[in-house]
Amino acid sequence: MTKMNCYPLLAILLICSISAKGQKTKLEVDVTHSIAEIQPTMYGIFFEDINFAADGGVYAEMIKNRGFEFDNPKMGWQEPNSNSYGFNKKSGIANIIKSSTDASSNNFCRVSIENDSGYVLINEGFRGMGIKKNAKYRLSLMTKNSKLEIQKVRIHFVDETGQVLGECSITPEARDWKTYTATLVATETNPKVVLKITFEGNGVIDLDNISLFPVNTWKGRENGLREDIVQLLADLQPGFLRFPGGCIVEGRTLAQRYQWKKTVGPLWDRTLLINRWNTEFGHRPTPDYFQSFGLGFFEYFQLAEDLGAEPLPILGCGMACQFNTGELVPLADLDPYVQDALDLIEFANGPADSPWGQVRNSMGHPEPFNMKYIGIGNEQWGPEYIERYAIFEKAIKEQYPDIVIISSSGPFPEGDFFEYGTSELKKLNAEIIDEHYYNTPEWFRDNATRYDDYARGGAKIFAGEYAAQSVRTTSPENKNNWECALSEAAFITGLERNADLVVMTSYAPLLAHQDGWQWTPNLIWFNNLEAYGTANYHVQKLFSNHRGNELLAISTFDGKVVAGENDLFASSVKNTNSGEIFVKLVNTSDKKQQLEIDIKNQQLEGTATALILSSDQLTDENSFENPKKIIPRESELSAINNHLSLEIDPYTFMVIKIGLE
Ligand code: AHR
Repeated sequence: MTKMNCYPLLAILLICSISAKGQKTKLEVDVTHSIAEIQPTMYGIFFEDINFAADGGVYAEMIKNRGFEFDNPKMGWQEPNSNSYGFNKKSGIANIIKSSTDASSNNFCRVSIENDSGYVLINEGFRGMGIKKNAKYRLSLMTKNSKLEIQKVRIHFVDETGQVLGECSITPEARDWKTYTATLVATETNPKVVLKITFEGNGVIDLDNISLFPVNTWKGRENGLREDIVQLLADLQPGFLRFPGGCIVEGRTLAQRYQWKKTVGPLWDRTLLINRWNTEFGHRPTPDYFQSFGLGFFEYFQLAEDLGAEPLPILGCGMACQFNTGELVPLADLDPYVQDALDLIEFANGPADSPWGQVRNSMGHPEPFNMKYIGIGNEQWGPEYIERYAIFEKAIKEQYPDIVIISSSGPFPEGDFFEYGTSELKKLNAEIIDEHYYNTPEWFRDNATRYDDYARGGAKIFAGEYAAQSVRTTSPENKNNWECALSEAAFITGLERNADLVVMTSYAPLLAHQDGWQWTPNLIWFNNLEAYGTANYHVQKLFSNHRGNELLAISTFDGKVVAGENDLFASSVKNTNSGEIFVKLVNTSDKKQQLEIDIKNQQLEGTATALILSSDQLTDENSFENPKKIIPRESELSAINNHLSLEIDPYTFMVIKIGLE
């Protein structure tokens, strides 16, 4: 696909007879011969807390810096009527108390109110808060009203004009720390309100852990996730959930690495950490990006379970991100890191009375999560990785021989690091090697044959992070445009044709906040009210929802794979449970193409359904304004005996579903 000019949207004509004009490509699918089993994990999702994906994103907490624990502990909070350089006789002022002994743990906020008619404390949310008319929001907060000077705490949604769009109050009747809850009902829909807190009474009151969630979270959980975003994930029917990253696993420094043990157990005991993407890119500063770990490892496992996806946690291996400091833990000091991996397996799979199984049990999940996979290192490279990986591998396999270990081939799919890493990992009998590809759309089209000649019989492949970049990797100008999505579709036919080798695949990154992102492109965009799937999302969904369980050969009549000749790409699978075959076709050319497909050795039901994803221009994108610009449309086509004739429009991806008799 070289031309970038526009094309009118041509209806795809699905016809029963051979078209009289144009070049025809004849394809055949052998239904009786299964080449390989397609793993249920073939299409999954990769979640990393980047772009406000967790805090400010799928984690439905609406208060930013709820525990006053950010490096700047008042970040996210405003006192419009207070002055740091005065006694605030007409209002009041808050101070942050750093306490290691107080029951509220760490920081809390001490509000001294001089005049309750003038003092206001505001939380700005994650670039505002989105509220929906008539929806309920559950507020909880801790107060310590030592002298009972404050009679009421009032909480309001307020829009940019100061109008109140919902309110509630609590009566802080206890002198010591106590948690109170109340419900706000939104009177309007608004994407950017703030939460205003006022007080009745003059004096001092301590506040902590001020939290606000929609009542309607995914599955109604109190410490829950955003329903709309999780629904988009569920609709993908992901075979696995890789979490929590990405570079976030490694940290910019070892001190800032992701430590799963600090993310489980009681919510308020989880230790906040700066998000490494807070400071990564000068072009998208996000100084207010932290990890509260309200979405921690328990919640990730729970999400995987909800989605019917295999959990795939990735753990650091004693190496900080090699794009940053690359700090290394000496081999002699690696034991605690290895122990973290062993303990995680116990947390996920151990009996409810085992030390870490007990933690899981205390969080409400006595049954094991049946974790089968673990990733050691994210995008590590060099001998430093190999020697550390080998230590993890030995320890894990000794204790848990059935756990499948995912290893890393580094950040690039070719070159020195890649060659070295994969050859060393193979010597260590690595089971599944994670490969990452961020490259041009053209690279994706050209690499549809990447795995056709890969060696078999050794490690399997996890295409763990990939996305076509319309400008270049990490450019803030990258778009989720149709050219990228279509090129990924072409590439994925190559992954699918090699499903005997490629057993897991996932696009990256998964989520991005409209106002809080650092990286683009991303699979799903959201703001505080809405979320939509990109064209790339719909490509993923079409493949994933039609993954099948047996790989079929689809070839030209002279026996060649369909991987770029005439800008056509194809793969085919069978679902033996539903008795269907799915043929995936991608036309990356600027021309309509005529196809004839023979289904060998099989009578067809008489009709077939085409799910067609296409757009007028390669630069087209879905957006908040037009979230359904590029979505699949359905069309019926007839099959005569075992034969289909059809035309496929320029720049089109389609899945044909054919029922078998
Ligand atoms: O997906 C964004 C980043 O890209 C991931 O954190 C990392 O693994 C890769 O370099």
